Amino acid sequence: MFEILKINSQRPEKCFIQKAVKIIKKGGLVAFPTETVYGLGANALDKNAVRKIFKVKGRPLDNPIIVHIAKIEDLNLLARNIPKDVKILVQKFWPGPLTFVLFKKNAVPDEVTAGLKVVAIRMPKNKIALEMIKKAGFPIAAPSANLAGRPSPTFARHVFEDFGSKIDLILDGGRTKIGVESTVVDLTVKPFQILRPGGISFEELKKVLPDLRLHPSLLDGTFKGKSKSPGMKYRHYAPKACLILVNLIRDSKKWDKVQKGRISNGVEGKEQVLRIQNLIKKYQKQNKKVGVLSSFETKRFYQQADLVLISGSRKNLEQIAQNLFKILREFDKQKVDIILAEGVPEKGIGFAIMHRLKKASQG
Ligand code: TXA
Ligand code: MG
Repeated sequence: MFEILKINSQRPEKCFIQKAVKIIKKGGLVAFPTETVYGLGANALDKNAVRKIFKVKGRPLDNPIIVHIAKIEDLNLLARNIPKDVKILVQKFWPGPLTFVLFKKNAVPDEVTAGLKVVAIRMPKNKIALEMIKKAGFPIAAPSANLAGRPSPTFARHVFEDFGSKIDLILDGGRTKIGVESTVVDLTVKPFQILRPGGISFEELKKVLPDLRLHPSLLDGTFKGKSKSPGMKYRHYAPKACLILVNLIRDSKKWDKVQKGRISNGVEGKEQVLRIQNLIKKYQKQNKKVGVLSSFETKRFYQQADLVLISGSRKNLEQIAQNLFKILREFDKQKVDIILAEGVPEKGIGFAIMHRLKKASQG
């Protein structure tokens, strides 16, 4: 019997955690909040339970799943040849939105890693998630709890929108804090490489690992190249509407140097606003319903659009990250044909935001 349970995010009710654990122990699927997005969890050591995740998500079988743990010691249960730098990364960033790719031990079923010899592991920073994993007593495999290709869920209702009662339980712990997924770092190569930008920024990681690189697929700015994270090759994070990303300036690398092009009260982006205004006209002439993914500061320039949704303030990229997936889903509900999305500077969490927008725009 499918259920949604509202659970306290600060003091998760024991009986709800027990219910979730009971289901997971029986091989069922439980959606639960993490600090990034909701995950769809199953016993990571039960290959049949993991197969169910692929089935219900419609996930391609070559796309491996992150294993979530609640005790650092569990790293040794799952991974071998763990480099010594893990210690400082764990101290600084765990629990938190950072996933390590490490050589796997035999205990990890091939279903979890899609046949790869490496496994992705993270410790989420969310009391509900941590309690559930601790009480289960085994690691929990969990991709984002959305149908394959759709924007990740940042509210329990998004999980319900995608799966209805096809899973066993949704633990509704409210909105997720960060809103984009974890940063995935490959620790099996030297120097280490970021495979997916996410909640911990490249700049923050560089302070601890000065040699850290971006995987080549993240370097050209299009994110179209071959990735080592198999999931990255698919269309992703995508609303049903056609998303057109309008960069802040044509060459985002010049961002730091841009002084001209201010629209008013110190906000950069005149060129971006003008291009979006032109695109609104162009697509409305074609009888399309046009939505704009706007910042708070620029909303007033898009009055001609059929729908304008605000992701946050340009001065607060964390806020934009938190709202991004919710808004992409909202455009679909309102049935727009075209989403014109304002790009953001690719620094800090802005890099992860732009990565998601670029992937969402690849039709
Ligand atoms: O924040 C997050 O990471 C969320 C929450 C639920 O923890 N999870 C998440 O999972 O985003 P998912 O499955 O939507 O994305 C996992 C990414 C995919 O791009 C996948 O290809 C990559 O991590 N990945 C997983 N296991 C891997 C492995 N063994 N080697 C390389 N990449 C891996
Ligand atoms: Mg996902």
